[in-house]
Amino acid sequence: MSQSFARTLVTAALPYANGPLHLGHLAGAYLPADVFCRYERMCGRDVVFICGSDEHGVPIMLRARAEDVPPQVIVDRYHAELKSGFERFGMSFDYYGRTSSATHRETSQAFFEKLAESDTFVRKTESQLFDPEAGMFLADRFVRGTCPSAECGNPQAYGDQCERCGRSLSPSELIDPRSAITDAVPELRETTHWYLPLGKMQPKLAAWFDGHPEWKTNVRGQVSSWLKEGLADRAVTRDLGWGVPVPRKVAQTAGVDAEGKVLYVWFDAPIGYISATREWAEGQGDKERWKAYWQADDTRLIHFIGKDNIVFHCLVFPAMLMAHGQYVLPDNVPANEFLNLEGGKLSTSRGWAVWVLDFLDRYPADYLRYALLRILPETKDSDFAWREMQAHINNELADTLGNFANRSVTFAVRYFDGKVPPLLDPDPPDQRMLASLADYPTKVGQLIESYRFRDALDAAMGLARAANKYFNDAAPWATRKTDMSRCGNTIHVSLQVCATLGVLFEPFLPASAARLRAQLALTGVRASVPGADPGSGIGFHDAGRPLLAPGAELGEPEILFSKIEDAAVAAELDRLQAASRAAQQDEAPEAPNSPEADDGDYAPAKSVIAFDDFEKLDLRVGRVLVAERVKKSKKLIRCEVDLGYERRQILAGVAEHMTADELSGRQVVVVANLAPRKMAGLESQGMLLMAEDRQGRLVPVEAGSEPGATVS
Ligand code: 2FM
Ligand code: ZN
Repeated sequence: MSQSFARTLVTAALPYANGPLHLGHLAGAYLPADVFCRYERMCGRDVVFICGSDEHGVPIMLRARAEDVPPQVIVDRYHAELKSGFERFGMSFDYYGRTSSATHRETSQAFFEKLAESDTFVRKTESQLFDPEAGMFLADRFVRGTCPSAECGNPQAYGDQCERCGRSLSPSELIDPRSAITDAVPELRETTHWYLPLGKMQPKLAAWFDGHPEWKTNVRGQVSSWLKEGLADRAVTRDLGWGVPVPRKVAQTAGVDAEGKVLYVWFDAPIGYISATREWAEGQGDKERWKAYWQADDTRLIHFIGKDNIVFHCLVFPAMLMAHGQYVLPDNVPANEFLNLEGGKLSTSRGWAVWVLDFLDRYPADYLRYALLRILPETKDSDFAWREMQAHINNELADTLGNFANRSVTFAVRYFDGKVPPLLDPDPPDQRMLASLADYPTKVGQLIESYRFRDALDAAMGLARAANKYFNDAAPWATRKTDMSRCGNTIHVSLQVCATLGVLFEPFLPASAARLRAQLALTGVRASVPGADPGSGIGFHDAGRPLLAPGAELGEPEILFSKIEDAAVAAELDRLQAASRAAQQDEAPEAPNSPEADDGDYAPAKSVIAFDDFEKLDLRVGRVLVAERVKKSKKLIRCEVDLGYERRQILAGVAEHMTADELSGRQVVVVANLAPRKMAGLESQGMLLMAEDRQGRLVPVEAGSEPGATVS
């Protein structure tokens, strides 16, 4: 339990500074971490919340090359964008750093030196892929080739991972590798690197991990399977021109030329949590203060991350911390699974994403916080759909929470002179409602402390639901005419509930909770942002008792949440489709510009048909919800397609033209009344329309509108 710790250090995964924030980022790590920290501060506990931009790694270098600018230009741009996205979303970081800072360079080099001096690393000299045209070694994503997995065979796998089957790779495992920079066939050259010997460290790591049976099932499952497979040693240096340089001293001692060698991004990035804490401490005017948060036994360290970061935070970084010897190990790593979008996998390159800054241009941050908290992928992947989001905002925020607050305050302003009426000889329902308040802070708090944020939000909403029912049953609009004292009791109790809600919702919806408290003129609630005085004010657990004094003046009533119109949802869906189409056009191979280029022949025209023949076709808009390669077939992709009125299995013969991931999430035209037929032992219940160009390349015919819409 948290109370046995003197302080808590919370980290949220450092996002790569090579693209803007999207909803998947928020749902994975940032929003749950923010709710947790705001809650901890409201409980008066000592918590420091750290994040920052991860500014190294090959994807950043690739982007810099594509734009023909130095990597620093890329990271400066996206660091600023990430920072402002987080600010506008309401993240309550104590400090947001960046890994290109001088403190980070010094901290990660010192960490590396310590491990080198204690003989933690092993050094290996091996042949690695080298691009003779670019004159550089091809680390990680600088090389592409065919995935070695027999079931997968993705021709576009990266040197560090195959994005189709998820397998972790090293560049030398790729079949037919090519340089991602020049497309040259790489040659092999010898190079020396430092490795973290995870194989040797496995027993110690496994023993430590066994001491955490309380971790989330999804996290435990992934870590157990890594351990079961057996940990392999990991190289923690690279031959690259961008990153934290390998310390000269270490290289010299080893007799290795340090020129062009940097720390691997996954070695320096988690140390970024430490360097950011050091920078925070300096900003607090106490340079040494960071040590308590990283090195004192009574500190609790918690890493909030997405599931793709589990191995690094549960095994690799703990191994580094153990080897160093002066640091605490994570107490918990509450990782979330992935967020999908409208039934398809989020993909920034395919334009299948909702960008946080775009969203915030049109809606308040609390709408996004609520909609995401409602569907957080806590135990399995979940899906963000605009229509569902509209329903959550309209039916729950506006009709339940907002409506209850509004009618309570408006009633008091109209009929009780804008003051809290006294509670005089309350009826049993009034007493029950008031007494029930005591349970909520504990219930909601325990769920937050167990990292069950969806349930915690639901528990808090439970109070708003119960209060609406209480208000309806008490019918103050009727008692106002017959028994003003009873009516006053109802409004008194309702306002006390509003006050409790105004505290309970602070970690979840900070801006709306503040507006609700302003309507109640409720002041003195402990801040959920950094700088709160832990000992003063109304804390989270004080919200179980009545907070408003009878006779106290209220503020002005206002509508807390306005509803989202159908037209706005339709516009969002159109926007998504348009962005996806545009991204795919950008990605298409460039048209050949030489006059000699062979464009191939147009397909011969077919004979004319009667309109009646055309009318027989039932063409519908469908959305590909699931797409996966059919094993043992070169051509087929099995799709599950949402036709609005039903879901169908349809086999598409496009595997030679696109990956299943590229097909997933697309909105396509479907021949819905084609007789079912069997292919590769599976039934295809319709057909996806494809356009075939003169080179025989197939692309699905994309459709706007909604699944189930007829195409004619
Ligand atoms: O996956 C990512 O976005 C990484 N940049 C996360 C790094 S977390 C930490 F180790 F810094
Ligand atoms: Zn693969």
